Order: sequence, then C-alpha cells, then structure tokens
Amino acid sequence: MNDQQTLKQFIEKEKQQIDQRLKNHINQLKAPPSLKESMNYSLEAGGKRIRPILLLATLKGFNKPLNLGYDVSCALEMIHTYSLVHDDLPAMDDDDLRRGKPTNHKVFGEALAILAGDGLLTHSFQLITSLDYLTAEVKVRLIEKIAEAAGPMGMVAGQVEDMEGEDEDLDVDQLQHIHHRKTGDLLSVALECGAILSSATEEEMSELKSFGKHIGIAFQIKDDLLDVEGDEKQLGKPVGSDESNNKTTYPKVLGMDQAREKLIYHIKSAKDHLNNVDKDTRLLLELADYIGSRSN
Ligand code: IPE
Ligand code: IPE
Ligand code: MG
Ligand code: MG
Ligand code: MG
Repeated sequence: MNDQQTLKQFIEKEKQQIDQRLKNHINQLKAPPSLKESMNYSLEAGGKRIRPILLLATLKGFNKPLNLGYDVSCALEMIHTYSLVHDDLPAMDDDDLRRGKPTNHKVFGEALAILAGDGLLTHSFQLITSLDYLTAEVKVRLIEKIAEAAGPMGMVAGQVEDMEGEDEDLDVDQLQHIHHRKTGDLLSVALECGAILSSATEEEMSELKSFGKHIGIAFQIKDDLLDVEGDEKQLGKPVGSDESNNKTTYPKVLGMDQAREKLIYHIKSAKDHLNNVDKDTRLLLELADYIGSRSN
C-alpha cells in the first residue's frame, strides 16, 4: 500500500471516530434543546476534520495511542466550527451555504447562531478540563496553547484584520500575516497539541510548529484559490464570496499563477521541517500534499 492510500484510510477511519464523539459530547450537555440542536447542526454537517486529523497523525507518528487525542481533537473541531458559524454571519462574510447545508443563521436565526458559536467555543475548554486521563499540568498546557491560537492574539485577531483589510490595498506580507493568524494558528496548534500529548522534545515541537506555520498559510492560499476556481457542490460553500466582499486574497494580490507558486513553496517548506524530526512522519508529509492539492 502506498502512503497516499494509507492517508486516505486513516482519514476515513478517524473521521468516523471524531464524528461519533462530537455527537456524544453535545448530546450529553444539559443545555436548552434549541441550543444543542443548533450546535449539533453545524458540527454534524461534516467538514474535512483536518485539525483533528493533524493532531491524530502527530500521535501516530510518535507511536502513541490515538485514544489519547480524540477528545482534544473534538475540542479543536468545536472551536473551528464556531469560527465558521460566526464567519458566515451577515455581519461578517454573509454566506448562505456551509458544509453543503444552509448556514446556521439561515436555519436558526442570527441570535441562536451567535450563541451556538459561543457554546461551542466555551464548551471546548470545559471538555479539556474534564479529561481524567490527562494530568492537570498537561491540561493547562493544552488550554494555554489553544487559547493563544484561537483568541485575540491568534484566530480572532486574524479575523479582525481580514475584515479591516476589505477594500484595502494590502501587500503580500500583510496578507501572509493575516492568513497565518486567521487560519494558520489553529492548524498549527493541532500539531502542537499532538506533540504535547506525545511528550515531544522542544526541538521536535519547534519543527512541528514550523511545519504547521507553512501548512497553515498554504491551507488558506488554497482556500482563496478554491473561492475563485472551485466547484460549489464539491466545496459545500459558495465560490466568489471573497470577491463579493472585496477581500484581499492571494489570487487578488498575486494573480492565480503566482498564488499557486506560493502554495507550492509553502508546502515544500513545511515538508522540509519534518525532515528534521526523527519519527515516522509519513502521514504528516502526505497530509501536506493533500492540503496543497485538495478540491474541497
Ligand atoms: C474553512 O476551513 C475555513 C478556513 C479556515 C479556511 P476548512 O476548509 O477546514 O472547513 P471544513 O471544516 O472542512 O468545513
Ligand atoms: C475564515 O476564512 C477563517 C476562519 C473562519 C477563522 P474564510 O472566510 O476564507 O473561510 P471560508 O472560505 O468562509 O470557509
Ligand atoms: Mg472570512
Ligand atoms: Mg468566509
Ligand atoms: Mg475562504
């Protein structure tokens, strides 16, 4: 079996684990049924589960049991899903389709969509605190890293800068800074969480973070390209959203060809960092290629 087939099987199998566990986590909540329904709606709509897959692939590379990573992966997916629910709101990107279904606010109204996002974000941290198989020290480290990546110095900062950059003439460095924060930080922290759970050394952690930084930028460049040339059915979200919101994107600043070149550059740079990690990095290398070539 070649590495690509191995990755495909790994994704298929682990996606099921994550989907089932997310459902269980929400079902167990003693929360208003309408809120649970709204939280579940966006989680259940699917998605690639790429952040969980990155975390689990790191554990696998370090030869650790995947059981150690499922719940933290769910916490990351809850944060990511909250960011999508809020990103689609009329006050933000104002999109009507997400993960192949009408966006959360289209079905539940804006107020419940905002609150479902709040619920997903907050519960992700509660979930981590509740894990009795992790030490208090590991839990605090995970929460610290995730909060930094998702909060006002990470993803939320990136979303603000993305919004303030509408109608602006940004250069490629400014754009990279935005992509890094709004998308890269959460992808990168998935690897960092995997490394923490695997008791990785400082050097391994640092290489994985650099790997994450490059795949994070690459992931958003690809997202920008797909917003121009993707297929709405396959993507499960609208194409042309960036143009209608006057977003500054890689295709807008560099043109399609140079944006594709940048994408290739970041995928290669990401992979170079893994060469310095003396573990089984095959799945992560394959994931980097998948991020560069995906069609949804
Ligand atoms: C979309 O993320 C938003 C970005 C950060 C670019 P994904 O492409 O991971 O979305 P899902 O989870 O598969 O729906
Ligand atoms: C959103 O970027 C990133 C976050 C949600 C943090 P986009 O606005 O490009 O994501 P899509 O294209 O709507 O998925
Ligand atoms: Mg957006
Ligand atoms: Mg958007
Ligand atoms: Mg986009």
